[in-house]
Amino acid sequence: MSIPLFLLFLFSLLPFTLSLNQDGLYLYHFKLSLDDPDSSLSSWNPRHLTPCSWAGVSCDSSNTSVTHLDLSNTNIAGPFSASLLCRLPNLSFISLFNNSINHTLPLDISSCHSLIHLDLSQNLLTGSLPHTLSLLPNLKYLDLTGNNFSGPIPDSFGSFQKLEVISLVYNLLEGTIPASLGNVTTLKMLNLSYNPFFPGRIPPEIGNLTNLEVLWLTQCNLVGTIPDSLGNLKKLKDLDLAFNNLYGSIPSSLTELTSVNQIELYNNSLSGELPRGMSNLTALRLLDASMNHLTGTIPDELCRLPLESLNLYENRFEGELPESIANSPNLYELRLFGNRLTGKLPANLGKNSPLRWLDVSTNQFWGGIPASLCDHGQLEELLMIHNLFSGEIPASLGMCQSLTRVRLGFNRLSGEVPAGIWGLPHVYLLELVDNSFSGSISRTIAGAGNLSLLILSKNNFSGMIPDEIGWLENLEAFSGSDNNFSGSLPDSIVNLGQLGTLDLHNNKLSGELPKGIRTWRKLNELNLANNEIHGKIPDEIGSLSVLNFLDLSQNQLYGKIPRGLQNLKLNQLNLSYNRLSGQLPSLLAKNMYRTSFLGNPGLCGDLKGLCDGRDEEKTAGYVWLLRAIFIIATLVFVVGVVWFYFKYRNFKNARRAIDKSKWTLMSFHKLGFSEDEILNCLDDDNEIGSGSSGKVYKVVLSNGEAVAVKKLWGGVVKDVESGDYEKGYVQDNAFDAEVETLGKIRHKNIVKLWCCCTTRDCKLLVYEYMPNGSLGDLLHSSKGGLLDWPTRYKIAVDAAEGLSYLHHDCVPAIVHRDVKSSNILLDGDFGARVADFGVAKVVETTAKGAKSMSVIAGSCGYIAPEYAYTLRVNEKSDIYSFGVVILELVTGRRPVEPEFGEKDLVKWVCTTLDQKGVDHVVDSRLDSCFKEETCKVLNIGLMCTCPLPINRPAMRRVVKMLQEVGTDNNQTKPAAKKNGKLSPYYYDDGSDHGSVA
Ligand SMILES: *[C@@H]1O[C@H](CO)[C@@H](O)[C@H](O)[C@H]1NC(C)=O
Repeated sequence: MSIPLFLLFLFSLLPFTLSLNQDGLYLYHFKLSLDDPDSSLSSWNPRHLTPCSWAGVSCDSSNTSVTHLDLSNTNIAGPFSASLLCRLPNLSFISLFNNSINHTLPLDISSCHSLIHLDLSQNLLTGSLPHTLSLLPNLKYLDLTGNNFSGPIPDSFGSFQKLEVISLVYNLLEGTIPASLGNVTTLKMLNLSYNPFFPGRIPPEIGNLTNLEVLWLTQCNLVGTIPDSLGNLKKLKDLDLAFNNLYGSIPSSLTELTSVNQIELYNNSLSGELPRGMSNLTALRLLDASMNHLTGTIPDELCRLPLESLNLYENRFEGELPESIANSPNLYELRLFGNRLTGKLPANLGKNSPLRWLDVSTNQFWGGIPASLCDHGQLEELLMIHNLFSGEIPASLGMCQSLTRVRLGFNRLSGEVPAGIWGLPHVYLLELVDNSFSGSISRTIAGAGNLSLLILSKNNFSGMIPDEIGWLENLEAFSGSDNNFSGSLPDSIVNLGQLGTLDLHNNKLSGELPKGIRTWRKLNELNLANNEIHGKIPDEIGSLSVLNFLDLSQNQLYGKIPRGLQNLKLNQLNLSYNRLSGQLPSLLAKNMYRTSFLGNPGLCGDLKGLCDGRDEEKTAGYVWLLRAIFIIATLVFVVGVVWFYFKYRNFKNARRAIDKSKWTLMSFHKLGFSEDEILNCLDDDNEIGSGSSGKVYKVVLSNGEAVAVKKLWGGVVKDVESGDYEKGYVQDNAFDAEVETLGKIRHKNIVKLWCCCTTRDCKLLVYEYMPNGSLGDLLHSSKGGLLDWPTRYKIAVDAAEGLSYLHHDCVPAIVHRDVKSSNILLDGDFGARVADFGVAKVVETTAKGAKSMSVIAGSCGYIAPEYAYTLRVNEKSDIYSFGVVILELVTGRRPVEPEFGEKDLVKWVCTTLDQKGVDHVVDSRLDSCFKEETCKVLNIGLMCTCPLPINRPAMRRVVKMLQEVGTDNNQTKPAAKKNGKLSPYYYDDGSDHGSVA
């Protein structure tokens, strides 16, 4: 503000200024610069003598000079006017926390000489951090959390004189953490988490901050090792380095942090063992080193610490869990899933501490379930799936009223389930799948008012299903397949209005299907195959509008097929091997149902295997004649074709004789064909596609099987560095090595590479043939509407699993580099497989050799934004591209469309969501009853397409999230608030590998 203007302003206030003092005038002017929609500043009356009675204002003892200004949470908006506020000579405290202060923080903030405490967190400030802040001689507290500051942290921040607290969490800061911060030895708290810094190391100079109590550097794009010097931080209470790319081992110097309460190192790439000497950490209450590559055993000495929470899941720990862990007096959270731990759980685990969450899933633990787990009555989650536990469930757990989530599946447990377990009032998931439990479901299940998922498949349960099951109004899935349940389904079962899945196949159920099933409005899957159910299929079945999977095969059902079935959109329909009769409703006579009705001798209709319904005897004579004519005609034709084939082959062989001698074959599977057979069929009329790297042919082999053959040519590749176009010659060695890796891959969601034939300048890759073509072709053609939501969802899960395999299970990891919908192929049942991976990379290797990774790969609309500033390609760019595929599935739109203008699909989805809402984004061809799931999947797509690579979830996590959409439909988990800090990580058990399905 220039002086003349300011004077002008004073004159304009002249009527008031006769009374209000100087500080008051400045503040009143500040008020006028703000928007105050809630009238929070209504008490700021210019007729007062001093501002000392105004809301949020405090003065010194003489009651004239303003010292404190606290306008937090007042909903004010507008700029931060340092030119006014800094004129208050004694103002030492400013808090404008949680408002809409916008614009930049001006450089003249440095004129606030008296300022000690400055809190501008949770506002809308932008621009760079003023380097002049460090000139404030008395500043002790600086909190700028939750704004939109960008650019680097100024080096000058190393010259603060008295600063004790600095928090810059949740901004858009770039650059790296300046080493000069190590000079601010007065610092007690250094919080820089959740900024998109460039990859950088933790400056070892941080170790000079010997007064530091909190070091919070979550998601700061840190790389390299943890510096030894951090061990000097003797006063440190909270060390949080989670969600970075730190590697190397945990330095043993960290055991010198004698004051530390919590150490969080999760989600890095740390390796090696936990350091010895941790018993020095006598104040440690929380240790979370999950999701790293740590090895070795869990040291006994950890158990001597006053630990409350120990999370070491998804590492590579081995050996037994120390017995003494059961003596920890405070332990309430123990998560060890996804390791290689063995031995028994300590027999008195839970006896000495208020255990609340226990997850030991996916290890090799054996022995019994400790009876004392719930001795303190606090146990909520008991997750033990995928181990070798045996024996019975202890009766004590049947009295554990606090339980909410019980997963004991995939073990060797046996005996009867204690009656109390069935009726636990808060349990919403009871999963006992794949054990050897026996006995029946107790009537006490009536008490399980919260139960929504009851998964009992693959056990030896027997007896009737009790009537009380119909009381469970929240039940969404009941899977009891592969047991010995008998008797008829209880009539009450039709009361289950939330039921989505009822799967009781492979049991001994008898009786008729219950009456009144139209109440099953949400039923999606009904599988009662292979039982002894008789009677008719009720007509009401046609009113189950979301039913998608219906299998009643291998029962004793008779009567007609209800016409209403025609109205349903069934992906799977199986009524085979019953005693159904009458005429098949005409709309069901589709090819996709060609095996659905077999084995019903009385059933007639227009499908193969059914009686054709006309009077057969009359026509029998004609049929015989027709058949004879047909056979003769076929014989003539075949002889002709064979003759022609041999002629033609000789001709071709002659033509190709020279070429073929140079072919070398590399095969990865036992082949039922020879390379000749393929070479002879590469004609233009077999061509089914053509891409940047070559043409694709469909070849039907002599054994009747089809394969897809990709013929690569040395294409013209743009060399990014030189900008030249040059001929890309295939580097034979690299290509062979790569192809060999790919050939070894066996995964259900990855297209199989049968073999590869090579010459000097041409290569053939022989893949399995995928009859439904590519997702891209199907989705974006007029047939896109035929892909209903369950199919699209399954495609997403399949493709995610394939990519996850490439990223996480292949050594070395394989980056696809060209994930797009046209590289996701569909088999006969619309199972999706990822194709064309890695090969692109080899093919595009230029003559200069090892620069393959610097060549821009990928397709328009799918390329991750980081390509703009780095040519380094990693898994995260695949995840971005996969996110685009998810958006395609949800919106039905192409990654780039003229309608989007400058934008690509990702930007279009974001802006349309903001401006018009989700209904304008989702493909209008999708059934609205799947809206909830569609939205969840859309969210996953948006997470994958986060502009910052580090914020994209790993592929393994994507798979889990997608599967959760399909299983826990109603259990959306809120982002866990961790120790009062907002953490984007969702706590869930490592056991969600789709086993609920
Ligand atoms: C800042 O907020 C004020 C008050 O709401 C508004 O009028 C102004 O346009 C905003 N300025 C910027 C740069 O966003």
